Amino acid sequence: MENENKKIFNSIAVSYNNPWVNNKTERKRIEKIVSYFGLKKGMTIMEPGCGKGDFTPFILKKIGKEGFIYLVDISDEMLKYARKKVGKYKNIKFINSCASEIPIKEKSVDAVIAFNSFPHFYPKQRFVKEFYRVLKEQGFLIIAHDIPERKVNNIHKKANFNMKKNSLPSRKEMFKILKKNGFVVEKYINKGYYFLKAVKSN
Ligand SMILES: C[S@@+](CC[C@H](N)C(=O)[O-])C[C@H]1O[C@@H](n2cnc3c(N)ncnc32)[C@H](O)[C@@H]1O
Repeated sequence: MENENKKIFNSIAVSYNNPWVNNKTERKRIEKIVSYFGLKKGMTIMEPGCGKGDFTPFILKKIGKEGFIYLVDISDEMLKYARKKVGKYKNIKFINSCASEIPIKEKSVDAVIAFNSFPHFYPKQRFVKEFYRVLKEQGFLIIAHDIPERKVNNIHKKANFNMKKNSLPSRKEMFKILKKNGFVVEKYINKGYYFLKAVKSN
């Protein structure tokens, strides 16, 4: 199951490009979305499905030099590019593993940020459980996309690869999975972009 994604993303890594990386207006739009996350200087973050590290600078800007990021991806090819892009930062650790089994101690991160990656994690329950394990008490999970749920799911339906299992759950299903695994949803937006913030509850 994880290997399907590994194969797919290893094969498309070279051509994988985010349209917002070099577009000033789009970058501003992404920055606006990130401003809702609640990131603070010095926070420790885990970014599952970090890909080529395109989103990482947006996080780094918020947490500063005193913060720390674990970049996790199942695709070694994607991580190769991420190392090239953000490897110069000393406060980043690269982890090539499935985000459902992350070699990080429990209760060690302030926030898990899944940007444009959550649809690829299945079965969802396994990943949400793992995110809960690595989060500190009162830590939070962010699931975000630069486009809304319907567009995300359409892209995966039309993909050249078999991405039928790669989807963003409906609001109802998402809330159910999060509640079942100890999270309280604090904010949910699905208009123009997708943003969900859920806090780890005791
Ligand atoms: C659509 S890309 C997004 C990458 C990055 N977040 C971005 O916005 O550019 C999804 C990433 O999730 C990774 N991925 C897929 N399944 C994964 C899994 N089970 N564990 C960790 N990473 C995974 C892929 O290798 C890929 O790099």
